[in-house]
Amino acid sequence: MREATASRHAAIDTLLALRRPFGAAHYARVLQGFGAFLVAWEPRMAQVLPAQWQPWFAASTRLHLVQQDLTALGLCLPPAVKLATPVTPDAALGSLYVMEGSALGGQFIAAAARRQLGLAPTHGTAYFHGCGSATMARWREFLVRLEQDLTSPEARTQAVQGALATFDVLTDLFRGLLDDRELAAA
Ligand code: HEM
Repeated sequence: MREATASRHAAIDTLLALRRPFGAAHYARVLQGFGAFLVAWEPRMAQVLPAQWQPWFAASTRLHLVQQDLTALGLCLPPAVKLATPVTPDAALGSLYVMEGSALGGQFIAAAARRQLGLAPTHGTAYFHGCGSATMARWREFLVRLEQDLTSPEARTQAVQGALATFDVLTDLFRGLLDDRELAAA
């Protein structure tokens, strides 16, 4: 999965441009982008994920954290993105892989936002901070469970398709939000 999505990860990482100094306006757009995505994605996942994943998912939704951050920063939630036709349960697992993985980058983003903008989990970085120091353990647990469930080649193919499609939705969304390069430094 990681190999199959590596080039998309690199592209979105470049697009978000959070490894170099960024301003409050750029951070706000990124946060709003995740909000616009999660508004559509979380209900979809709740419908499509396999039954055995529902408790995991229900305990780890993160839209409320984005909302908390947006409120703290005086911002609003943009309209939801449009997701493509319903996905299969295995494709949904691939999609979940993308968002679970994004929590790893979130640790980096939360730390950068603290250094550069003075934000904290209680003020503006609740979403990216997520589970904080428990993030890596959670990620490992997720991968173990994913391995157990994606046993057939068909299931793996579907999951990869779901992951690629999710990266594509996110890339399109952020391209639209961040295309004004001049504002990226604001
Ligand atoms: C929409 C944005 C992003 C998504 C969807 C995303 C998704 C992912 C996924 C799926 C993984 C797991 C890879 C694996 O299987 O090991 C991952 C890992 C990681 N991501 Fe991201 N990511 C995003 C943005 C970022 C950004 C902006 C950064 C850095 C500022 C970042 C840094 C990392 C790091 C450090 C790892 C762990 C180490 C590695 O595998 O390279 N990510 N991300």
